[in-house]
Amino acid sequence: MSSFDSLAKNWDANARRQALAKAVADAISACAPTKVEKLLDFGCGTGLVSYNLTQLASTIIGYDPAPKMVEVFNQKSPSPNIYATTSLPKDSFDLIVSSMAMHHIKDTAATIAKLAQLLKKGGMLCIADLESEDGTFHDRGNEGVYHFGFDPDALASLFTQNSLEILCKKRIFTITKHRDFHVFLLCGQKRA
Ligand SMILES: C[S@@+](CC[C@H](N)C(=O)[O-])C[C@H]1O[C@@H](n2cnc3c(N)ncnc32)[C@H](O)[C@@H]1O
Repeated sequence: MSSFDSLAKNWDANARRQALAKAVADAISACAPTKVEKLLDFGCGTGLVSYNLTQLASTIIGYDPAPKMVEVFNQKSPSPNIYATTSLPKDSFDLIVSSMAMHHIKDTAATIAKLAQLLKKGGMLCIADLESEDGTFHDRGNEGVYHFGFDPDALASLFTQNSLEILCKKRIFTITKHRDFHVFLLCGQKRA
């Protein structure tokens, strides 16, 4: 069981997580204002971002390797068109979003390449994550943390290497703990 499984039940009770997810969803909606058919939320957790994007997509599929996160996501679903799974779908998507998951994944380049592959031509990939930090963000220690945030410009060059044209790269939220931790949103569109 991953540490995220043990956090799943109370994940949504954290007001800061709720506020961050809302800010991420609002910033994605501003960048991708047209309603799409299929959305993938990669590293969806309990769906805090997904459930703020229901107006943007007819079908929302969440992917997360932590079964308890997926369970909570699915308990909240109001429709068969919104669900989560522990297996990465093989479908093609119009919009792929991911919030605060990428720093938990070792091989960033391979993950961006995989997500770019899952996009339809003209589809968008939107990643929100921490800007580079000093390794003190996670209160419970850094097990399962592979990156102390990211340089958005470095991530943007991985996007362009995968034929994703940058549409938006900006700071969208600040988490204040013993110091400020900034969250960026990077959106790219797969060339048609
Ligand atoms: C900080 S949580 C963010 C959850 C959700 N996106 C949110 O905003 O509330 C990070 C999530 O990434 C997931 N995760 C960990 N390793 C992953 C991987 N290799 N691929 C996809 N998701 C992963 C975890 O299970 C966890 O649910």
